[in-house]
Amino acid sequence: MRIQTRYLHVDKENPDYFALSQAAEIIRQGGLVAFPTETVYGLGANGLDARAVAGIFRAKGRPADNPLILHIAEVYEMKKLAAEITGQAARLMDTFWPGPLTVVVKRTRAVPDIVTGGLDTVGIRLPDSRVARDLIRLAATPVAAPSANASGRPSPTDAQAVAADLDGKIDAIIDAGSCQIGVESTVVDCTGTTPMLLRPGGVTLEMLTAVVGPVAVDPAISHKEARPRSPGMKYTHYAPAAPLWLVDSAAEDLLLREIRRNLEEGKRVGAIISREMALDIPGSVTVAVYGSRRSPSEIAEKLYGALRYFDTHPVDVIFAEGLEEKGIGLAIMNRLRKAAGGRMIHRRQSY
Ligand code: TXA
Ligand code: MG
Repeated sequence: MRIQTRYLHVDKENPDYFALSQAAEIIRQGGLVAFPTETVYGLGANGLDARAVAGIFRAKGRPADNPLILHIAEVYEMKKLAAEITGQAARLMDTFWPGPLTVVVKRTRAVPDIVTGGLDTVGIRLPDSRVARDLIRLAATPVAAPSANASGRPSPTDAQAVAADLDGKIDAIIDAGSCQIGVESTVVDCTGTTPMLLRPGGVTLEMLTAVVGPVAVDPAISHKEARPRSPGMKYTHYAPAAPLWLVDSAAEDLLLREIRRNLEEGKRVGAIISREMALDIPGSVTVAVYGSRRSPSEIAEKLYGALRYFDTHPVDVIFAEGLEEKGIGLAIMNRLRKAAGGRMIHRRQSY
């Protein structure tokens, strides 16, 4: 069943109170509102209302065992949701909130089962986006929100991308322009003695370690074969409109060779590459530049837009240039690997 989606335009820095109140009212009534955060757009519902949260899974086509993050506007709201906050969790929250960090903690009974997919833990995040925080405050409830894309698609970093996937399926979309960070929050499991990185994101591994010392890294982040601990990490994700091949950062020559070979076979070829690399690409290739190699944060910001570029510029195959896996590069490569679904090109190792 299609519904009429309302579009509410607000200023990112100084959001219109009336528009946000309307959106908050929809959430209080059990409806679905897509809203911007500093990372990506989220699809929000009242996080304490199981029926409302069920609507999120339906609209996205999301598997029920993939838990949602609860978004809060004030740290004290943790008390109602978290059964235990370890010292490490507290230090991380102190340092990185508001911001792109989700802490996984033991949950209380106030959190409906549907939010956590039956787990006894819950992911909680206090976003830095003014629009997001004002909306949560006005809704006066924790807001459950996954990224506002159809399940399996790249996350949306502007309202147009949300509309492309969810128009007619949700009650409203708050349009406040594009998101600054561009990849989702870092998810850290803080329930054990050593914190564990479950999903790399806006807060880098280096930043986490500087605050809490050693952080374990879920092996599934870099190696596809391992079974991820974060339920959401096991599903197809970020898939663009054509098969994507990810080329190792140290193999530019292979990237160019594969592009030429596919052109010779008569294929329409797309490339997701740096500005530096774009100069060497044959003119017949459909190119989405994701930024400069010198600015991984720019690449993070433009990554999902580049993946979605091929929705409207059809090609038969896409090649993406890899990056070094340090800083935000770890999150970027994690997403590109998932977009590639195992299609990797690297130089054969010599032993
Ligand atoms: O930046 C973000 O985090 C965005 C914005 C909207 O806040 N949200 C987002 O949500 O990316 P989503 O649902 O697309 O991704 C949430 C991730 C999934 O990989 C999920 O499995 C994991 O967080 N997660 C949530 N709760 C968890 C839990 N209790 N234990 C382990 N992983 C959890
Ligand atoms: Mg998502």
